[in-house]
Amino acid sequence: IPVDPFDLVIFGGTGDLARRKILPGLFRRFCAGQMPREARIIGAARTELDASGYRDVVAEAIGEFIGHHDYTKDQLTDFLSHLDYVPIDALGETGWKELQELMAGSPHIEAYYFSVGPRLFGDLAERLQRWGMADSECRIVVEKPFGRDLATARELNQTLATYFNEDQIYRIDHYLGKETVQNLMAVRFGNMLFEPLWNAQYVDHIQITVAETVGVGGRAEYYDKAGAMRDMVQNHLMQLLCLIAMEPPARFDPDAVRDEKLKVIRALDPVKPHHLVRGQYGAEPGNEEEMPDYRTAVDNPRSRTESFVALKTHISNWRWASTPFYLRTGKRMAARSSEITVVFKDTPHSIFAEDAGRHRNVLSIQLQPNEGITLGVTIKEPGPGGMRLIDVPLDMTFAEALGEEGAEQVDAYERLIMDVIRGNQTLFMRGDEVEAAWAWTDPIISGWEARNDVPKPYDSGSEGPTDATELMRRDSREWRKVSP
Ligand code: BG6
Repeated sequence: IPVDPFDLVIFGGTGDLARRKILPGLFRRFCAGQMPREARIIGAARTELDASGYRDVVAEAIGEFIGHHDYTKDQLTDFLSHLDYVPIDALGETGWKELQELMAGSPHIEAYYFSVGPRLFGDLAERLQRWGMADSECRIVVEKPFGRDLATARELNQTLATYFNEDQIYRIDHYLGKETVQNLMAVRFGNMLFEPLWNAQYVDHIQITVAETVGVGGRAEYYDKAGAMRDMVQNHLMQLLCLIAMEPPARFDPDAVRDEKLKVIRALDPVKPHHLVRGQYGAEPGNEEEMPDYRTAVDNPRSRTESFVALKTHISNWRWASTPFYLRTGKRMAARSSEITVVFKDTPHSIFAEDAGRHRNVLSIQLQPNEGITLGVTIKEPGPGGMRLIDVPLDMTFAEALGEEGAEQVDAYERLIMDVIRGNQTLFMRGDEVEAAWAWTDPIISGWEARNDVPKPYDSGSEGPTDATELMRRDSREWRKVSP
């Protein structure tokens, strides 16, 4: 079903994110019949282009990021006819009149996507208002990084609040757009089975891992100033933690859900220094040319920026008080694997012989590469060997369970952009949430800075620094293996 007619202006419309994610995503929604005929997508950036030049840029991006066999020439031509372009200067006056004329009198939903660095947010917002485009109906979409600490995030929130109401601001955390992340809510709150066990009495611990094989790539400049804590933990891992730990919201509506997530962040304990591991990747042994170390990759021989973080924390509330949460993320690890794992406690008493083996139920929610949920249950090993216990997975891998059609893959960005048009903020971060997350990460980062902390090295292609393994081992626990 198509969404309502819209005009979407993409500031930074020729940039990497627009080419890689936003425009291919919109094209896929167009092919799926979700984009109405009247919809317009207006690129706005510094590059001097006309509409036809912009269509060429977009056609090329679509060719690069979507397989050619996935669409027809006619579909592409038709999609491109929805595109327009305005060369614009976010800090000056060029282009604003033209944009205003394009938008004037449009009866459609208006959305402005700030696909630019946060330092331009204020200027764009101010100009949108000055040129009469920031009415109370329009929506703006902003990308991470949303600040680099609590102070800067607060400032950004205040600036945006000068021009827009909170219900007009869509702060993207693309992890919230991932299929399994939403499924997590369906599994938790759509079943009777899990919720009664979802607490410290039955759960031994929870692990959240986001492991990547990619390095810093072409983003050295940004990344070396940010590091894994700011780039991944403050936002993506924090959001996963909220969804796994929050209380059931009374309704599935934006503020009910975000209120519960906020309570989780506010209940997080500060992280003790000995519950924190920072790492920085070294070269891949034997493949130093292709997989160089972090410092070479960012061209900063003395960089102390972390490309890996592991930590243990607690949520101080009735549900979770004694359950540790272990979080881990890193670049250049052994495999691309993101999962949340709920490890349940031992049965209170075993009626089976010692050597029957003892097993724990493990619920693992995989975000990528294969989306799915697996519940490990203990059964008797088949055969005549007496009562021996083994674990078997109850596999809910979506592609298998639902067949190809049911498991239509929708990229996180596609879903989130459509939610902006629909006016649904459930999967977007509210200003207070972002600030609370920074309030929790700030002392960790300033602690490192004060101690002049040097990250622990780990080999590219490994499971991370050995200190991270130790962090778990001290508690007689183990990380799930990243490598397949
Ligand atoms: C981005 C980070 O937000 O998320 C990147 O800035 C990271 O450093 C990326 O690689 C991971 O996203 P995904 O969807 O590939 O897991």
